[in-house]
Amino acid sequence: MQHKKDWYKDLVIYQIYPKSFKDGNHDGTGDLKGMTEKLDYLKELGINAIWLSPVYASPNVDNGYDVSDYFRIMEEFGTMEDWEAFRDGAHERGIAVIMDLVLNHTSDLHDWFLMSRSSKDNPYSDYYIWRDPDPQGGPPNNWMSVFGGSAWEYVPERDQYYLHLFAREQPDLNWDNAQTRDRIFDIIRFWNAKGVDGYRVDAISYLDKGLDGRADMNEVIGTAACVNLEGTHRYIKEMSAKTFAPDNLMSVGEVNINNEQDLINYSSSSSGEFNMSIPFILPIVEIETWSPEKMKRDLKKEYEVLKKDGWWARFLSNHDKPRQVSLYGNDGAYWKESAKMLASYLHTLPGTPFIYQGEELGMTNIQYSSIQEYDDIDTRNYYETMLQKGLSPQSALAEAQRISRDNARTPMQWDSSAYGGFSDHRPWLGVNPNYKTINAEQQMADETSVFCFYQKLIALRKEHPLMAHGDFQMCCDETGPVIAYSRSLNGETWLAVHNFSDQNQVLCHEKIHTDTPVILSNYENVQLHSKTVMLRAYESVILKLA
Ligand code: GLC
Ligand code: CA
Repeated sequence: MQHKKDWYKDLVIYQIYPKSFKDGNHDGTGDLKGMTEKLDYLKELGINAIWLSPVYASPNVDNGYDVSDYFRIMEEFGTMEDWEAFRDGAHERGIAVIMDLVLNHTSDLHDWFLMSRSSKDNPYSDYYIWRDPDPQGGPPNNWMSVFGGSAWEYVPERDQYYLHLFAREQPDLNWDNAQTRDRIFDIIRFWNAKGVDGYRVDAISYLDKGLDGRADMNEVIGTAACVNLEGTHRYIKEMSAKTFAPDNLMSVGEVNINNEQDLINYSSSSSGEFNMSIPFILPIVEIETWSPEKMKRDLKKEYEVLKKDGWWARFLSNHDKPRQVSLYGNDGAYWKESAKMLASYLHTLPGTPFIYQGEELGMTNIQYSSIQEYDDIDTRNYYETMLQKGLSPQSALAEAQRISRDNARTPMQWDSSAYGGFSDHRPWLGVNPNYKTINAEQQMADETSVFCFYQKLIALRKEHPLMAHGDFQMCCDETGPVIAYSRSLNGETWLAVHNFSDQNQVLCHEKIHTDTPVILSNYENVQLHSKTVMLRAYESVILKLA
């Protein structure tokens, strides 16, 4: 595909979590063949880009986020030919292919690491972060890994520890080594040559570890201690200039944003890093701290900071978060209303929307009845930690259910047949039992469905550049559950109003009249009065003010 400057601004990106999307060869695990079969479904939804979570060879300790060979496809997912068929199928339908790049770490079974750990003097010795034991014995410092336990692992062959900010099986690459960086860029060039249109770059805020004293030694979690150091930005700029920029490839970094400067560094075009960024927030933090008020504050701030020279990635769910309708909406009494309200919110914000698979059906969180049914490494570790803290098994399970990344990883619900039509074989992770009522087949045939609502929003976005490019202005109180904003372009102005609560609300705006045209709403009728719109539970309306 040819990529014009700024083409990423007009994308609607659909994230596929390959293991859970569609099983094409009857073994209970999603794969490339299955994805290719479902391209028509995605075309019908209307999206124009797919971000594939990792499909590279991997021992799957962290579901593909531990890559053992970047030049090969994971066996469970198929072959390179299958990937090429998928790419061609996507391109034929005008859908761009965005690959996930996991470059902070590799799998501990990657050849580089197997050599690196074998001795202190081999060509790969310096490809990872090795340190001597503390003079008093034990690991070089007190850093903990994201998935629990020390961030350092001892290797007797070298009498040294290696750093792993994530799982023990995910050793961190040494980006300070220019040769390592060149080899990493070769990986990207390989995929560029295969016709990839863009990249989502995984966990990329920790390349510079700052172990020479620049890391924040008051922090115990390794990723927090070394986040956003100077070298990280230098390396990202180098990567971008050498690999993404020459072909205008789209890039989005999964990053940590702690202040305005971080946002500018990662998501403004003049800084030369990424086109936009996905801020990483720990699920538990998001669950416990989100509120409509916070959303409003963030929206306003992020808009102001980036409006001149940057861009926004918009998403409410992904493979690391609870399902959006369970988190921000109401997956009980107002399931349908809130799923649609969230859709409307996502698509009317300035920036590029990211839809996570199943979100367009309003898929919900899962509650397995035992910890054994969970697959996510993070959930399992978290459960153990809760037990060690003294929680009863039931309470530990309840905690794990709440934060589990498996909430978003249950198999796609295609139809009401066994296993939700995901596979005819028992799936690797249990299907959500609500597949009989929440599934694609049923929703595609129902004009009032969540699926059709997404379809309408995506179609609107294609028709009206205002949705992606229009100016943005907050039009609501700073407090309360109503989020309202206007979008304007070339003399046209829309007002989007969303009620993030199950209570009736009112939004006042002086340009609203009883006959203001309604662009879209998630209720059958809209209650307009002079200068106000009345909102029922999770109601969302888009009005044309001018
Ligand atoms: C990112 C991924 C997550 C993975 C982690 C380590 O946060 O989204 O799924 O576990 O990086 O690669
Ligand atoms: Ca399969």
